[in-house]
Amino acid sequence: MYARRLAVCLGSVAALVAAGGAQAAWRDGGEVYDKVCRYCHEANVGPVLKGRALPVEYIQRVVRMGNRAMPAFRPSEIDEATLADVARRVSGSAALAQE
Ligand code: HEC
Repeated sequence: MYARRLAVCLGSVAALVAAGGAQAAWRDGGEVYDKVCRYCHEANVGPVLKGRALPVEYIQRVVRMGNRAMPAFRPSEIDEATLADVARRVSGSAALAQE
């Protein structure tokens, strides 16, 4: 179950990143979160990130380096300014509403 979910998620992420590469640039970090991060981090594939006040530098490092099932994203996929923006948004976000 977990593996299948992750495979589906990784497939769609590859497609999304490819699409992102084709477009000139991300609009902002919010778009990256909604189109990339959210597919794992609000789908029980990766841990919930919102509302945890994770440090901005930590978020940026994890996105660049990856960590096991967390894919690494290159600057060609998410540029520095957009990564800084998504990290700031995630760090300062409110917790997700409870289901
Ligand atoms: C393909 C699924 C996937 C995508 C897409 C993804 N992540 Fe992750 N992420 C994970 C998984 C799985 C982990 C847990 C890794 C581990 O600890 O083994 C993780 C861990 C993290 C952590 C560490 C969380 C903690 O509790 O310490 C951060 C920060 C993070 N991801 C940020 C992001 C951001 C920002 C994005 C969007 C740019 C993103 N991730 C996209 C799967 C994903």
